[in-house]
Amino acid sequence: MPMLARVYSCAVIGLDGVVVEVEVDYGQGLPKMSIVGLPDEAVKESRERVFSAIKNAGLSYPRKPLTVNLAPASVRKEGPSFDLPIALGVLVTEELVAPEALESALVVGELSLDGTVRHVRGVLAMAALARQEGYRRLFVPAADAAEAALIPDLEVIPVDSLAALYAHLVGESIIAPALAADIPTNTPLFSRIDFSEIKGQEHVKRALEVAAAGGHNVLLSGPPGAGKTLLARAITSILPRLSLDEALEVTRIYSICDMLPMETPLIQQRPFRSPHHTISHAGLVGGGNQPHPGEISLAHRGVLFLDELPEFGQRILEVLRQPIEDKVVTISRANGSLTFPANFMLIGAMNPCPCGYYGDNMRQCTCAPSVITNYQKRISGPLLDRIDIHVHVPRVDFQKLSSQRQGEPSSVIQARVEAARSRQTQRFTGTRLVSNADMTPAEIRLYCPLDEACTSLMKTAMKQLQLTARGYHRVLKLARTIADLAGDSAISTTHLAEALQYRARERDS
Ligand SMILES: Nc1ncnc2c1ncn2[C@@H]1O[C@H](COP(=O)(O)OP(=O)(O)O)[C@@H](O)[C@H]1O
Ligand SMILES: [Mg+2]
Repeated sequence: MPMLARVYSCAVIGLDGVVVEVEVDYGQGLPKMSIVGLPDEAVKESRERVFSAIKNAGLSYPRKPLTVNLAPASVRKEGPSFDLPIALGVLVTEELVAPEALESALVVGELSLDGTVRHVRGVLAMAALARQEGYRRLFVPAADAAEAALIPDLEVIPVDSLAALYAHLVGESIIAPALAADIPTNTPLFSRIDFSEIKGQEHVKRALEVAAAGGHNVLLSGPPGAGKTLLARAITSILPRLSLDEALEVTRIYSICDMLPMETPLIQQRPFRSPHHTISHAGLVGGGNQPHPGEISLAHRGVLFLDELPEFGQRILEVLRQPIEDKVVTISRANGSLTFPANFMLIGAMNPCPCGYYGDNMRQCTCAPSVITNYQKRISGPLLDRIDIHVHVPRVDFQKLSSQRQGEPSSVIQARVEAARSRQTQRFTGTRLVSNADMTPAEIRLYCPLDEACTSLMKTAMKQLQLTARGYHRVLKLARTIADLAGDSAISTTHLAEALQYRARERDS
């Protein structure tokens, strides 16, 4: 008696998994398979792969027409990850596999013609869905098992081939579940530069420490070869370590973008992304037909480094404002909108002028003053407003570069940063605030009270340095972070004096 088979699988929309029911049913007539339910081209090609994989597993393929329905029909089905559930559906209709064997299970996997099961992207999101929806087990490609096993309380069965899965389901040869303990520890995905490798530049390193401690955005300005890129890259080594929840958030994004290396099932480092200034709007913020996360989401919980900031152009920098503010990006599409996380630290780098040597102590700048002003104006005021720390990076002289003296290692700086962060966590318990950089003017008034000496220093500074109201608030936020680094509960004139160093020079908006 031919039967309707139902196998449960999973699609990914945005960053979330959605359960997809794969129904396989017999019809009358010539043997062929039709797939319905909004499949894309890759899904339609499942027919060939499933047919061939079943034959090559030494199993019988029905000599009748089959209809495969992927439900709900409203969800667009993308990619080849439905091969394995479709193949299992066929085996169930053939009564080769009992439906009970797949009870409470989700199945994903791409098949190759010989029946090998291949890696699919987005497995972490699928495993999270499986657990959330109360499924007990998840059949995944063996290559993705360690990633799926990051989700606790879910039996993850690593599948090498259709034949091996068949043997497991009929009880011939049981596959052992993947264990979370099998996770190899961390092959670094982003190159790690230690602060001790950077010679000199003590004031820049200090500025980066303050930035890391308070979650402040940074603009590095200096001539070519001064070490801006090097310094920006190094900052991830002093940022607070990722919590497990944060690591899972980051891993899920990389898995969905298919950027998770096989040997790194869990990303335990803060990301560092450095898109080129020719990047498209969708590449930067996310988007596309089936919306994919962009660079700002790949930088989630880490650093977005925009080298040669003025080259990005006003339009693209403008779209960064909303995500910098909201820490998420919303992408609208035909049927509703999608939200991707985008909580990153922005580091910009720029030459001070088109020739690069304005303000350099060794080489003469060849730019006309008006050209310099125009160059710096390419970065809009509203974006600059969101950058608390502006720091000049001079070229280091040869003597310092060639010195053997080792700077302070990143691990020591990171410990100070983490201590400063925990002071902030304590202070901000029960509020929406995470770090000092998030404070609004009202919150600054609340959390950054100034004593008499500080008030008079700020009064003088505002007059002499022509600080704007925005500039004033930035200085207070930074002073708060500097006090946190020092372990002081009150802001002092020393903290303020340092904070004033990081203000925007040429044009404070
Ligand atoms: N302070 C420094 N200590 C060690 N190496 C440095 C330092 N500054 C620059 N370098 C090296 O000089 C080269 C140019 O630095 P880079 O960061 O690309 O400069 P920029 O981005 O400012 O143009 C790199 O190879 C970098 O490793
Ligand atoms: Mg550079």
